[in-house]
Order: sequence, then structure tokens, then C-alpha cells
Amino acid sequence: MCLFLFSVAFSNLAIPQQAQPVGNTSLETFATLHKESCHRLEYLVERQKQLCILSDKMIQVLQTGAMQAVEECQHQFRHSRWNCSTVENSTDIFGGVLKFKSRESAFVHALSSAALAHAVARACSRGELNECSCDARVRKRTPRHWQWGGCSEDIRYGEMYSRDFVDSKEDKNSDEGLVNLHNNEAGRRAVRSRMQRVCKCHGMSGSCSVRVCWRRLPQLRLVGDALTTRYEGASHVKVSSMVVERKRGKNIRKLRPVHSDMKKPNKTDLVYLEESPDYCEPNEELGILGTKGRTCNRTSAGLDGCRLLCCGRGYQTRVRDHEEKCRCRFVWCCKVHCEVCRFKRDHHVCN
Ligand SMILES: *[C@@H]1O[C@H](CO)[C@@H](O)[C@H](O)[C@H]1NC(C)=O
Ligand SMILES: *[C@@H]1O[C@H](CO)[C@@H](O)[C@H](O)[C@H]1NC(C)=O
Ligand SMILES: *[C@@H]1O[C@H](CO)[C@@H](O)[C@H](O)[C@H]1NC(C)=O
Ligand SMILES: *[C@@H]1O[C@H](CO)[C@@H](O)[C@H](O)[C@H]1NC(C)=O
Ligand SMILES: *[C@@H]1O[C@H](CO)[C@@H](O)[C@H](O)[C@H]1NC(C)=O
Repeated sequence: MCLFLFSVAFSNLAIPQQAQPVGNTSLETFATLHKESCHRLEYLVERQKQLCILSDKMIQVLQTGAMQAVEECQHQFRHSRWNCSTVENSTDIFGGVLKFKSRESAFVHALSSAALAHAVARACSRGELNECSCDARVRKRTPRHWQWGGCSEDIRYGEMYSRDFVDSKEDKNSDEGLVNLHNNEAGRRAVRSRMQRVCKCHGMSGSCSVRVCWRRLPQLRLVGDALTTRYEGASHVKVSSMVVERKRGKNIRKLRPVHSDMKKPNKTDLVYLEESPDYCEPNEELGILGTKGRTCNRTSAGLDGCRLLCCGRGYQTRVRDHEEKCRCRFVWCCKVHCEVCRFKRDHHVCN
């Protein structure tokens, strides 16, 4: 079993080497192995180790959530200078890029806590976990023209778990911790606010005399798209503390925009403390790969355009063979037949 987990909402995703259960290992031995491996994950804080020990099924769910978050991140950033590339065999899968308290770090924190909440809620509704199932609470509210039924996915449980697991690593007394907690929560809200209600009609020959509805999770892609919009409009903040008299002189720490003419971030906005590097040149120490060798689009004026992606270093054009389905036709009934067309296509690569 390859166990991998994420802790600081990902800045520490690792694949620990684990003793393989051999042959007819009893369940008991397996549980011991599992417990030992949880303890061996040094980057987990104590609370995360406890959660890890409590359920080995949950660990697989976290693993799924982690992989989905990486895939979604790479999809969203496929045209950017930083392409969400990951590093193998490292406790820090994003290769140090998250050491910056940057927008990218904000995005990764939000997306990973969202993906975790999503994966947990999905596993609950599929009956894969003992500790949760469908959301029974929605049934308490009685609607007029339809009724709750089926299995509503329990995003509240997912969020709760995500908060417990991901947030436990953060120190809210540090500026960075405060910012990470904000972004983690923004990510979870991006899932919750996109829950969908789906309904099905029942009744004699489609009369729809009874409509049964349930709540469904949004596709992670929708969440990724939304968080990308938030990433683009992320707020540069600083932490300001003030002593509040009516709270018995308690010191309250708040996130405020660095530029006073910017609006105050709300709970769904992403926030960051430091401007990002330009990600143009490789920097091994910082885990930046640079954009040399990236494929760019000669005609695009956007981020994937050669001018921006190659950081003004120029690009080389190579001719490559390209295959595409073509001359597709419908064959009665019901198939589509296509031919494979080969043609040459220019391919631009950053210097
Ligand atoms: C498997 O079980 C048998 C009998 O229960 C035992 O003799 C054998 O040593 C076990 N093998 C392993 C690899 O644990
Ligand atoms: C990562 O570890 C595996 C197994 O230990 C090894 O086969 C692989 O080559 C390593 N990859 C890198 C990039 O070091
Ligand atoms: C938060 O601010 C964003 C714009 O940055 C806005 O689109 C959104 O509606 C606001 N959300 C709430 C809950 O006020
Ligand atoms: C990201 O870009 C680097 C080059 O800068 C490339 O080697 C790598 O394959 C890319 N990763 C992804 C996931 O696209
Ligand atoms: C390149 O960019 C243009 C303009 O944005 C777009 O129409 C085209 O599909 C892109 N080409 C590729 C191969 O992505």
C-alpha cells in the first residue's frame, strides 16, 4: 500500500516508504502497520496523526482528494508560467514554490482544502466511510412542491473534516497561518456555495405528481474555475492588530488590504502576503522550473502566448506531426466512424 497524505493543505504532500504487508498478513498486523505508518509521517501535526490512525479508509479518501487537487491545479495553470508542476519523492510536492506567501500559495491552499471536503463528502454518500453517509439534515426542512429524497451529499461533514485535518497545521497567531486559514475556508465555501439541487419526477406516466430532490456536489472543475477567478482577483493583505476595549482589551488580528483604496476581502476572496516571483528563470533553491521548453501559442495575446510565456527570450519553431480524428461520419445505427488525419503543424517552444 502506498500511503500518501497531505498536511499543510498540500505544501507537504509526501509518499512515505512503507513496509508492505506480506502474504497472509492478518487484519491486526495491518492495523498496526497502519498505525505505525501514521506515526512515521513526521510532517503531520499530532491532530493529523490521530485522524490518520482513526481511519485507514479515510486516508485513501484524502489521497484521492489530494490527487484530484493536483490534477485540477495543473489544468487551471496549464497556460501559466507557473504550471503547478510537482516534484517526485519530496515531502514538498510543489517543490518549494509554496514557501512564498504568494497568490499561487493562496490558490493551492484553497483548492486543496476544497478538494478534500469534496472527496470526503463524496465518499460519505457512496458509503465508503463508517463515520458518515448522506446528509439527513436537509429532510428536516419541508419544502412545498417537492420532497427531499435520495441521497443528499453531506458537504457539512466534508467541510468539518477538512477543517479538522487541514487547518490543524496552521498557527493563527502567525501572519502566514492567518492567511492560510482564510484561504482554506474560502476554498471550502467555493464548494458549499455551488451545491446543486437535482430532482427526479415520479408519478403515473411522467405526470410528475411527486418530485423528489436531493443535493449534489458540484464537479471539482466548477470549483477550480471559481477559485481561479478568485486567484486573479486576489487581495494583497497585511495583518493588522488592534486592542479592542469592549472585548476586555483583547488583541484582535485582522487582514487588511495593503493598498487602502482596495476593498476589504470577504470570506470568499483569496488573500496573499507577498507578490509572486515572475517564474521565468529556473531557481533550484526555490523550486522554480522556469519556462524554457514550454510550448507557447504564437497567435495568442494571453498568458500562453509566446511573448508572455517565454518572458521575452524568444522561441523556436519546430514542425511536428500531428494526428487528429477527421472525416467523421455517422453509420446507421448508431456509430460514428472517423479517419485519422496526419498533418504537420508548427510547434513553438520557449528558449
Ligand atoms: C501464513 O499463515 C500460515 C498458517 O496460518 C503460517 O504458517 C505462515 O507462516 C504465514 N505466512 C506469513 C508470511 O505470515
Ligand atoms: C522516486 O522514488 C522511486 C522509488 O523509491 C524511484 O523509483 C524513482 O526513481 C524516484 N524518482 C525520483 C525523481 O527521484
Ligand atoms: C465577496 O467579494 C467578491 C468580489 O471580490 C464578490 O464577488 C462576492 O459576491 C462577495 N461575497 C460575499 C459573500 O459578499
Ligand atoms: C511544467 O513546465 C515544465 C517546464 O517548465 C515541464 O517540464 C513540466 O512537464 C510542466 N508540467 C506540467 C504538469 O505541465
Ligand atoms: C492559440 O491562440 C489562439 C488565439 O487565442 C486560439 O484561437 C488558438 O486555438 C490557440 N491555439 C492552440 C493550439 O491552442
